[in-house]
Amino acid sequence: MKTYRIITFGCQMNEHDSEVISGMLTQRGYMEAAETAGDPDIIIINTCSIRENADKRFFGTLGQLKKIKARNPDFVVCVCGCMMQQEHITTRIRRSYPWVDVIFGTHNIHEFPDMLQELYDNRAKAAASEPVNAGVSYAVAKHEIRSSRETRVDRIYDDAEEIVEGLPAKRLYRHKSFVNIMFGCNNFCAYCIVPYTRGREKSRCPEDILSEVRSLVADGVKEVTLLGQNVNSYKGEDRSGKQWDFTDLIYALSDIEGLERIRFMTSHPKDLSDKLIEAFAKCDKLCNYIHLPVQAGSSDVLKRMNRKYSREKYLEIVRKLRETVPDIAVSTDIIVGFPGETEEDFQQTLQLAEEVRYDSAFTFLYSPRPGTPAAEYEDQIPEMVKHERFNRLVETMNTISAEKNAAYVGRTCRVLVDGPDKKARGMLNGRTEEFKLVDFEGPEEITGQMVDVEITGSNTFSLRGKLK
Ligand code: 5AD
Ligand code: SF4
Repeated sequence: MKTYRIITFGCQMNEHDSEVISGMLTQRGYMEAAETAGDPDIIIINTCSIRENADKRFFGTLGQLKKIKARNPDFVVCVCGCMMQQEHITTRIRRSYPWVDVIFGTHNIHEFPDMLQELYDNRAKAAASEPVNAGVSYAVAKHEIRSSRETRVDRIYDDAEEIVEGLPAKRLYRHKSFVNIMFGCNNFCAYCIVPYTRGREKSRCPEDILSEVRSLVADGVKEVTLLGQNVNSYKGEDRSGKQWDFTDLIYALSDIEGLERIRFMTSHPKDLSDKLIEAFAKCDKLCNYIHLPVQAGSSDVLKRMNRKYSREKYLEIVRKLRETVPDIAVSTDIIVGFPGETEEDFQQTLQLAEEVRYDSAFTFLYSPRPGTPAAEYEDQIPEMVKHERFNRLVETMNTISAEKNAAYVGRTCRVLVDGPDKKARGMLNGRTEEFKLVDFEGPEEITGQMVDVEITGSNTFSLRGKLK
């Protein structure tokens, strides 16, 4: 039995794609290699393009794999994910990384098991025609890896024609799962590569989503996270031709017996409807938590980012959310040092953060992505300035997060138990409805259960508690 290991970079969408890759490989009889088991037979790197850092880490990892190939010419290296949707990247891999065996993109994940089989067939054919190389055409010669180009299987599509349903997924947790509801993005924020790597928006048919969630629930899932780049613009059409928006889908999902929690990721402020805000109040299963990326606090920067809302509009949405659900937890994404950002603009971001008082925030240094409009803007911000602003922002955000968390001390929260803590023995981790991470002592057997935990302490990123 051949073993595989997947290295995943990037967002939940990629994590879930890796679960699908894993599901398909398991179905075909491959076995996931344990972390400790040494080199697997196959490595798959699922890449991310969102910032330059992710690109760099990928090429670093790829460089290291060359050593394994030198030890073991049967080793298989597969690369996929967002980076493969960019021509300049695949050109570089094709030219300079001869030890890569399979290249596929974000639109043909379902083809991967067949592509892998094709690779093994190509190798067998090459071996038969080239007996000199004692095996296959990429054999090691003079400590140098000869090209695997003759056997390489390489297929990328610009966009998906239709959504492929029914792919298996090997989930990380038994009690919770990601569920894709839509793919792609039409927003073209000026800094973002995603619309180029994930193609145009496509929504899954509501019945397909409902039946997937029903079977997940039958398999022990209590919580689903609905995934899409911009879930608020979900536009599903059912088999009778009826149109469904995102909120319709949430209500229908909440009728599924046994499902206890519904979350979603990510929503764009420009499409956040009053109907959805109302659903937070009306639908018990919809968690009191929203990730609502603001990106910047200055209307001027937002305009140049092509975000299609102003600072005022964003604050208005948050006000409405809090009016409807006073205890809703809110998190965000913020980019620091977008081209042309002045100190004044940045101050507005700090002020907005203070005003909203986010429970948590993901803060990013602006990273120019080749092919996006903002990468061509002339007024790029010097790295030093970006870093200095970034540090100030993180400090502000952390102070607020710590204060927000401290307010939980003394409360009793419903926690879905994720399992034993990776480091501290005897400790468990779980999440509250507000997506707060809670550490508490308890038996491993309650993993996957909903329990009451009294919050006894807090810090910037998590809560501590006592099982009731
Ligand atoms: N530079 C920095 N951050 C970025 N993001 C997207 N593109 C870039 C970029 N070029 C951030 C946004 C988005 C999150 C997923 O990544 O904040 O919401
Ligand atoms: Fe990127 Fe904007 Fe689409 Fe989000 S909404 S994926 S930031 S283009």
